[in-house]
Amino acid sequence: MKNEAEKVFEALGDSGRLTVLTGAGISAESGISTFRDSGGLWDQYEIDDVATPEAYAANPSLVQDFYNMRRAHLGTVQPNAGHRALGRLEELLGDRFTLITQNVDDLHDRAGSRRLLHMHGELYKARCADCGVAVEWRTDISLDDRCESCSGSMRPHIVWFGELPFYLEREIPEACGDSAVFFSIGTSGMVYPANTLVSQVKARGGFCVEINLEKTAGPGVFDLQIEGKAGETLPLLIAELEALL
Ligand code: APR
Repeated sequence: MKNEAEKVFEALGDSGRLTVLTGAGISAESGISTFRDSGGLWDQYEIDDVATPEAYAANPSLVQDFYNMRRAHLGTVQPNAGHRALGRLEELLGDRFTLITQNVDDLHDRAGSRRLLHMHGELYKARCADCGVAVEWRTDISLDDRCESCSGSMRPHIVWFGELPFYLEREIPEACGDSAVFFSIGTSGMVYPANTLVSQVKARGGFCVEINLEKTAGPGVFDLQIEGKAGETLPLLIAELEALL
């Protein structure tokens, strides 16, 4: 992994920014299902039944049950070495580092990441379906729960298919706009607009690295592809990078 770290270090320079995008793959070794691997969540549930505004309007209790089950499971798992390695990388790079995650679990938060953008929302928050106020929420959300501000109904603070992800107006374009290096970790790259971030960085000459169980794109997209489990490859890469920084 020394050779890979040297390539990243060379691209980063002494002041370059490093932006990371993570997906469900980084939480897989913690025991959280990915979506599109065999046996994943979308093998078990239909997206149109549990992850769209229309599904929530048609059958709110089924949607609440789906997220209540995922929220309860989150309390039984822990961050893995991949999450912790990204927490260490943030310590090393400070404000040169931004972590954008598609994941709604809190494993990056628990692993110490603070420069963290949850672009698809968070399981441990609920949001008023009327006024939009989001609050910390660690237990089941029931159909009777009401917003303290306006008495509206409380929904999961999750970006459903067809809804706009968070931070697209400013924070994400700012982070991707001048990144010297971009890591895409544990994501299939199937979902828009998260899957456009790598091309935003590449278009400005950034060095793009994929760290994933398997390659998701051809050689034209990533400058470097590291195959394997993120919980194993990421700590090795970041330890070698730390020795160079
Ligand atoms: N280490 C690294 N990568 C892994 C690991 C692992 N231990 N296990 C699985 N992977 C890879 C898989 O090979 C796959 O490419 O992680 C990727 C997971 O892809 P998806 O299941 O599609 O998850 P993700 O890319 O995060 O999905 C994006 O889709 O359903 C929506 O909102 C949901 O945020 C999610 C979005």
